[in-house]
Amino acid sequence: MIRVDNLVKSFGGFRAVDNASLEIATGSITGLIGPNGAGKSTLFNVIAGVHAPTSGRVTMDGEDITGLSPHQLFHKGLLRTFQIAHEFPSLSVRENLMMVPAGQTGETLWNSWFQRARIREEEAALLKKADEVLDFLTISHLKDEKAGNLSGGQKKLLELGRTMMVEAKIVFLDEVGAGVNRTLLNTIGDAIVRLNKERGYTFCVIEHDMDFIGRLCDPVIVMAEGKVLAEGSAAHIMENEAVIEAYLGTGLKNKVKSDEQAEVMADESHGAQPGLGDEAGTGEAS
Ligand SMILES: Nc1ncnc2c1ncn2[C@@H]1O[C@H](COP(=O)(O)OP(=O)(O)O)[C@@H](O)[C@H]1O
Ligand SMILES: [Mg+2]
Repeated sequence: MIRVDNLVKSFGGFRAVDNASLEIATGSITGLIGPNGAGKSTLFNVIAGVHAPTSGRVTMDGEDITGLSPHQLFHKGLLRTFQIAHEFPSLSVRENLMMVPAGQTGETLWNSWFQRARIREEEAALLKKADEVLDFLTISHLKDEKAGNLSGGQKKLLELGRTMMVEAKIVFLDEVGAGVNRTLLNTIGDAIVRLNKERGYTFCVIEHDMDFIGRLCDPVIVMAEGKVLAEGSAAHIMENEAVIEAYLGTGLKNKVKSDEQAEVMADESHGAQPGLGDEAGTGEAS
């Protein structure tokens, strides 16, 4: 279990994460939602060691992991997908998968020169593992495709695949559905559920698409203005959406579409009713 206690992350005088406390239970697919600027990505970055917190504590199964580097956390099986470097566009999908363990364990080229036989064995094992991963993700047909030619959604699947090449235990996915079409989003969702059920992965997922969150996540944590606003089952959160919406002045599922609209929403949140119609009917679900 990951436990976050009274976490604060300030940028200058601004508290992007403002005294947030939450838990991510082992074996769960925990959803993290909230409007843009709520501090979700910053929270991820602090947990994953990208930013040191201003104050507060993060523990993993009781062990204090506050301020550990992404590399150290990686070796504890905690990873945020972007920690795995972006795909190598000119390498094939399969080669991209095979790069992950080598790159991450700090295997040096020197070792490669001097231990060819071992390397050949390892390479065969890696190849086998990569093919298993491709099969698991139902993208075997893409194995020889250059990663640079993949669609946005296929790249997300590859990203997920790359977590499977190492011994990941808990994976943080930030807006896995952004720019991904519905069919591929379902494939990604299925892969997440299967990794969770069959391989014991714990996930924490930031996503704006409430259908996706509702289908996958329990519990769901709502953040706004750096704080944890609510937590519960997706159904519970959606039941209380009206309350949350009144507080936020914007629906949970609606991204702010432009700065102009953000200003309108900000104005509305200070007083009267949240905008009628406009943002309410234009959810991502359509
Ligand atoms: N590196 C940074 N420097 C300064 N401000 C930042 C930085 N990262 C995020 N912020 C600010 O912190 C707030 C929360 O951002 P973020 O965590 O990205 O929110 P979310 O992921 O919920 O959209 C935003 O107001 C953002 O502008
Ligand atoms: Mg974000």
